Amino acid sequence: VAPGAENKPAGIPDNVYAETVLAVEHYTDHLFRFRMTRPAGFRFRSGEFAMIGLMVGDKPIYRAYSIASPAWDEELEFFSIKVPDGPLTSHLQKIKPGDTVLMRKKPTGTLVLDALTPGKRLYMFSTGTGIAPFASLIRDPETYEKFDEVILTHTCREVAELKYGFDLMEEIRNHEFLSEIVGDKLKPYPTVTRDPSYPNQGRITDLIESGKLFTDLGVPPLDPATDRGMICGSTEMLKDTKALLEAAGLTEGANSQPAEFVIERAFVG
Ligand code: A2P
Repeated sequence: VAPGAENKPAGIPDNVYAETVLAVEHYTDHLFRFRMTRPAGFRFRSGEFAMIGLMVGDKPIYRAYSIASPAWDEELEFFSIKVPDGPLTSHLQKIKPGDTVLMRKKPTGTLVLDALTPGKRLYMFSTGTGIAPFASLIRDPETYEKFDEVILTHTCREVAELKYGFDLMEEIRNHEFLSEIVGDKLKPYPTVTRDPSYPNQGRITDLIESGKLFTDLGVPPLDPATDRGMICGSTEMLKDTKALLEAAGLTEGANSQPAEFVIERAFVG
């Protein structure tokens, strides 16, 4: 019997981790985050995703989730949507501290620093829960060893959906060692598309095209000599943002062939 296996609730397969939920925070009717214990042997690179699951009846159901916590953290964090009839999220949205969440053993993904060639400025483009892998990377000191400036764009329909990102900035500012490492290198750029109550308006694609993103940030337009990009959002958002980066002369990279930008779809539909 493997260590810990004797504590597993009945029916859970042997080849997965069974972890304990530590905290749950609901942001809106369709967004929440949770933290859970991290298995002792579990290694990942900031920005990667894992398969997260629950026992539903007598069967496990899994979906891909970006790990939102950084690689050094002793707990694991995830940021999730709630789909009323979603096979996993209709159940996952009800978890409470003490509940068991499953995780398959192997993490993977392309939104990792290793997949980018060296540069000065790192753009992270996200919509909705696509901010999750960047929640990991902006809390990893290695990001700031590799880049002088880190720009995190997050676009949602409504301002309430930006709260997770605002909380992350607050957490970093108040963190004993991260606040010093991050300094003023991290520049958040939150925008909304269907909420007139917030000053920053528009899809990130429109803001790149018009150049407003760059004038607002006081940086030059995208340049393959200095700029690197990571994109995480819906399939359409990836396609449109990728086209703009390519038009600016950046090339897509991968773990096996680092280049100037990488993409990953925001999971869970
Ligand atoms: P919009 O309100 O104009 O559709 P969703 O909730 O549909 O996943 O969208 C999340 C955010 O991503 C919304 O602000 C949405 O803007 C924006 N968005 C949707 N599609 C694209 C796209 N192709 N390119 C850029 N932003 C997009």
